[in-house]
Amino acid sequence: MPDVLLLNGPNLGILGRREPEIYGTDTLADIERAVGEEVAARGWRVVAVQHDCEGALVRTVQEHYDTVGAIVNPGALMIAGWSLRDALANYPRPWMEVHLSNVWARESFRHDSVLAPLASGIIVGLGSLGYRLAARALVATVD
Ligand code: DQA
Repeated sequence: MPDVLLLNGPNLGILGRREPEIYGTDTLADIERAVGEEVAARGWRVVAVQHDCEGALVRTVQEHYDTVGAIVNPGALMIAGWSLRDALANYPRPWMEVHLSNVWARESFRHDSVLAPLASGIIVGLGSLGYRLAARALVATVD
């Protein structure tokens, strides 16, 4: 069965109890379940991975080039995660960048993503719904 990679970066493992007024109350397990429901429409499974360290995220990307697509919330690595950016540059399939919060409505250091130019699509500011929408986008667009 084909797999979709759901990759979450630093501080996203504590969703649900991390600044809920910004990131909402859904846990990462809730989000993983929701993405699984969406991609089941194509008979895909989710491989969900979260790491706080950039190197571990890089290794995860390298080990999942055989997935059909990916959903990536890099957390603060959006700002200067150059090695994650390079790993994703070599990822051969479509991938979506997701941010729960509207990063452009927040501090200016969050306004640029080094990953965004490589993404097939970007969803920000829609909370956990953004992951579902990214999954739907992959379901609708992946060959
Ligand atoms: C985030 C936004 C980032 O700026 C922040 O560092 C995060 C979460 C989001 O999902 O809104 O860790 O990626």
